[in-house]
Amino acid sequence: MNPTVPIDLPEWRALRTHREDMLATRLRDLFAADPERGPKMSFEAAGLYFDFSKNHADASTVRLLHDLARAAGLRERIDAMFAGDRINTTEDRSVLHVALRAPRDASIVVDGVDVVPGVHEVLDRCADFADRVRSGDWTGHTGARIRHVVNLGIGGSDLGPAMCVEALRHYADRDIDVRFVSNVDGTHLAEAVRDLDPAATLFVVCSKTFTTLETLANARSARDWLCAALGEDAVAKHFVAVSTNAEAVSAFGIDTANMFGFWDWVGGRYSVGSAVGLSLMLAIGPSGFREFLAGFRAMDEHFFTAPFPRNAPVVMGMLRVWYGSFLDCASHAVLPYDQYLARFPAYLQQLDMESNGKRVTREGTDVQWHTGAVVWGEPGTNGQHAFFQLLHQGTRIVPCDFLGFCRSLNPGGDHHDQLMANLFAQAEALAFGKSADDVRAEGVPEELVAHKTFPGNRPSTLILAEELTPRTLGCLIALYEHAVFVAGSVWNIHSFDQWGVELGKQLARRIAPELTAEAEPELAHDSSTNALIHRYRALRRGGA
Ligand code: F6P
Repeated sequence: MNPTVPIDLPEWRALRTHREDMLATRLRDLFAADPERGPKMSFEAAGLYFDFSKNHADASTVRLLHDLARAAGLRERIDAMFAGDRINTTEDRSVLHVALRAPRDASIVVDGVDVVPGVHEVLDRCADFADRVRSGDWTGHTGARIRHVVNLGIGGSDLGPAMCVEALRHYADRDIDVRFVSNVDGTHLAEAVRDLDPAATLFVVCSKTFTTLETLANARSARDWLCAALGEDAVAKHFVAVSTNAEAVSAFGIDTANMFGFWDWVGGRYSVGSAVGLSLMLAIGPSGFREFLAGFRAMDEHFFTAPFPRNAPVVMGMLRVWYGSFLDCASHAVLPYDQYLARFPAYLQQLDMESNGKRVTREGTDVQWHTGAVVWGEPGTNGQHAFFQLLHQGTRIVPCDFLGFCRSLNPGGDHHDQLMANLFAQAEALAFGKSADDVRAEGVPEELVAHKTFPGNRPSTLILAEELTPRTLGCLIALYEHAVFVAGSVWNIHSFDQWGVELGKQLARRIAPELTAEAEPELAHDSSTNALIHRYRALRRGGA
């Protein structure tokens, strides 16, 4: 038995056997067998309420999943991450996003250095800068007040702050308009700045490496746009950087005094609690940002200390393993019933799929089990009128996470009660469906009965919070970060590298000059790519 190969573990085999029982068990029967199943499989953690009862799991499933977690060394993995061990071995780095929200008096030592004071030093600098911009003390080159912030970044340097600015718009200073430009498609920048006054615009160039093609292309074009209006000298008051690469920031022309750093032990998709959240801090202010970090911290503490059966990220992560590797579910939907969380599924796509979209073990052997699922979703109730048909009656089972809030930030009329009624109704309908007999009893003609029958037995987790606040959002993000780590640990894959994004980047670097060369280039790609490049070259300038 090799403990690093989960399928070799007796606990994995026990779950394979148990799977057969569960495939024959319906949620309807589980609820009928135990009238207290709902409350029994629900608990509170870090201020969030979790109802796991509508999952394909009974008491044995839960026990066996926790046995597997223990046998796979999850406790040791958690301890190693929080201690700053170099668990990202393919990049030889610690994984310490938890240090980003550690309190001032905490101590986390990496290579003999306590990283916590440095975290707070940068947060304090960010707070000071945000206060100056928000109060009008920091002005643009002409003395005009900053009214627009444009974050230039991509991936983790975009999705986190972009999602959070949208999510926390209720708490934002409405006099500062925060926008995000990520795509190398020039349309993104052009449309973002089209109606902006350069004199009142601040660009935050956000890139961990400061080498990312898209971000640098956008930053160069943004600088051209600004300088065309205000001259070269304006750059100092209109560009700041968030990066780990001071040399490249300086080479770009941004004074490193206006650079906010972070560290190689923060992965891009785990970085929104660092200076990468500067645009969020500009929007909601430093005190809101501190509250946001307090939410992360509450979930970190819960994750670190709660026993596995009552540990929300552990339960969520183990359910990912159960559905992905044992019940063959290829995708997972995240359905926030809150318009402010519209970008939350997109954010989670990077967090989860870049982390757990891996096909080899930590030792580099091919995995013999399914790893990360496709994560997707849209806010409710919109999704109900789009893809819920497949969730209810399709042939594929898609486990869902429903997220809802007891109080609306925009109360008025009966909108919120309607919204929540829909959330509860969807989870209920997915789990219990509607039998053919019930359909017949409604007098439906026989030829329509099959069409109007809902099989039910479709799993979901429901997460309920009181209100969407910066703290709640921080808590939710940390919840998913840790759930992803739990699943990745049990799958024995590397959740903190992302080598799979490299090949496309390399090929694009090779192809770019082939598209623009004056003379027809010698192409050595496959016949499809060669033909596409030839066609593009012929037509790119309106040629025949
Ligand atoms: O290409 C993927 C990636 O490396 C992500 O992991 C990262 O969040 C993103 O690019 C942006 O990287 P950077 O912050 O270095 O510009």
